Order: sequence, then C-alpha cells, then structure tokens
Amino acid sequence: MQEQLSEILAPYRGQKGTTIPILQKVQETLGYLPEEALPEIANFLGVSKNEVYGVATFYAQFRFEKQGEHVIRVCQGTACHVRGGALLLDTIEREIGAKAGETTEDGKFTLERVACLGSCALAPVMVVDKAVHGKLTAAKAREVLAKYKQEPKAEE
Ligand code: FES
Repeated sequence: MQEQLSEILAPYRGQKGTTIPILQKVQETLGYLPEEALPEIANFLGVSKNEVYGVATFYAQFRFEKQGEHVIRVCQGTACHVRGGALLLDTIEREIGAKAGETTEDGKFTLERVACLGSCALAPVMVVDKAVHGKLTAAKAREVLAKYKQEPKAEE
C-alpha cells in the first residue's frame, strides 16, 4: 500500500487545496480509505491527521472500510417499501449471510440499505454494483445473487 500511496500522492506535490482530490484518488484506487493511509496523507499535506480525518468524515462519499467485491444496494424507499422492500432485504440478508451495512466474511458482498434509487416503477428494486434489478420477488433476488455467487473470486 505504501508504494501505491506514494504513486497517488506524487502528482499533487507542491499543489494547494488537494485534500479532497487526494482522498478521492486514494478511495478510487484502493476502494476505501484505509486508517493507516491517513497519517501518510496528513504528512504529505503538512497538516495534522485529525484535519484529514475531519475532512474525510465530513463527506459521506468517503468510507473507511473495505467493500466487498460486489455492492448490493436494496431500496427501502416508499414505493419499494409498499411492494415488499423489507421482505426483500430480509431475504437478501439471509441469502448472503450479512446484515445491511455489513460485508460478508468471504468479502464477496457488501449490503447497503438505501433510500429511493430513482427506479420506483420497478419497485421493489436492488442494484448490484451498477446493474438495476427490479420487480423483484424473493425467488428472483435469490436467482440474481446465485449468479454472482457462482463467479470465481477476483484476485486481490
Ligand atoms: S422507492 Fe425504491 S426506487 Fe424509488
């Protein structure tokens, strides 16, 4: 990670106001902001670790935990809720063995509960990575997840 960080930081040397772009670049490259990267970034910027941490926690776009290979977002907005969104979430939690906000032990899935995904006509909806799956029943959701489960684990 040390090497990757140095590569990420190098182009920003001598520039001002780069805290957010640097944090974005680190997250884009590593998938999250590892705790141990923050002192390095602070050191590079010549500010305290708390300052960097403060910026990173202020913006919802930054996450401090590694996400699974696939991110499942299950809508709990009104349209989805009235069409069985809660049951869908429950089914998915049981199917992958992780609760909303968690990542499965094998690192395959991260499950998130979200508000309206903007596809209400397809309620109830889940999005896996960028693929929208709508009008889901428990059986259909299991079918979708089975495909992701079957694929070989990505190399680290
Ligand atoms: S409420 Fe679920 S997509 Fe809008």
